[in-house]
Amino acid sequence: MKVVKTISELRDSRRGLKEPVGFVPTMGFLHEGHLSLVRRSREECQSTVVSIFVNPTQFGPQEDLTRYPRDLPRDLAMLEKEGTDLVFVPEAGEIYPRGFQTYVQAEELTKRLEGALRPGHFRGVATVVTILLNIVQPQRAYCGQKDAQQSLVIKRMVQDLNLPLEIVACPTVREEDGLAMSSRNVYLNPQERKAASALSRGLFVAEKAFQDGERDGEQLRNIVRQTLKEEPLARIDYISCADLETLQELQRIERGALLSLAVFIGKTRLIDNVLLGVDSL
Ligand code: PAJ
Repeated sequence: MKVVKTISELRDSRRGLKEPVGFVPTMGFLHEGHLSLVRRSREECQSTVVSIFVNPTQFGPQEDLTRYPRDLPRDLAMLEKEGTDLVFVPEAGEIYPRGFQTYVQAEELTKRLEGALRPGHFRGVATVVTILLNIVQPQRAYCGQKDAQQSLVIKRMVQDLNLPLEIVACPTVREEDGLAMSSRNVYLNPQERKAASALSRGLFVAEKAFQDGERDGEQLRNIVRQTLKEEPLARIDYISCADLETLQELQRIERGALLSLAVFIGKTRLIDNVLLGVDSL
């Protein structure tokens, strides 16, 4: 496994890789969710490239950029074990050199859910992913359903800009109690960690109601809300039952829907979702 820090080294090493090349962009502090994407790439591609870059442009001024968890030696050991071919670990100045001023913005999709509450977040994501895709030039890139809106934004951007690759969205990997794996879960103290299982519990109760025939969007949102109200440490940011293409709130589910939420457990903001009526994004 080769580890490189600069764009020119990355380009040199990329030339030697067998194609198709699969790419997994991450912000590091890896867990089984990230590794599931690496494994999928390993299954479907001849070579696998992973990037580890805590991207400053996707964090708001009040967000956790400086305290975002990092452990590069551990990340590299995990990637080595998974058979990763090439790891790109750039400094911020390599991606955003002096004078940088060009950004990528998906318009409508980013007005809702995470985009509405985290202004500029998806502009930062879309921009860094475009830059990374241009540097790595993979045939496929892997992203997680856990960050459903992010995956939809990346898919839309790849389609709109005619980027020559396929985006593969992979299922959410969960802890035993249902909590979606996230680098941010380390922020939770033991009591909060227990409380955090309320997110997936709420989603699963509503998913069961959907399977039993409930098609009313507000009912499904209410079912999630009721479950979360039973957990005193949980403070709801939003609960959404939205159209998979536009992310507009649905009154009635005709085909598929994205049931998603953002919840504060103490000071930590967690997100999660389930798909209703479809298998993948
Ligand atoms: P990060 O949060 O490190 O996540 C990297 C990828 O792993 C994303 O595609 C995310 O959806 C996926 N992922 C995270 N948790 C997962 C889980 N429990 N199960 C399955 N997949 C999971 O998302 C980012 O980084 C950044 O925004 C990035 C796309 C790298 C741009 O900076």
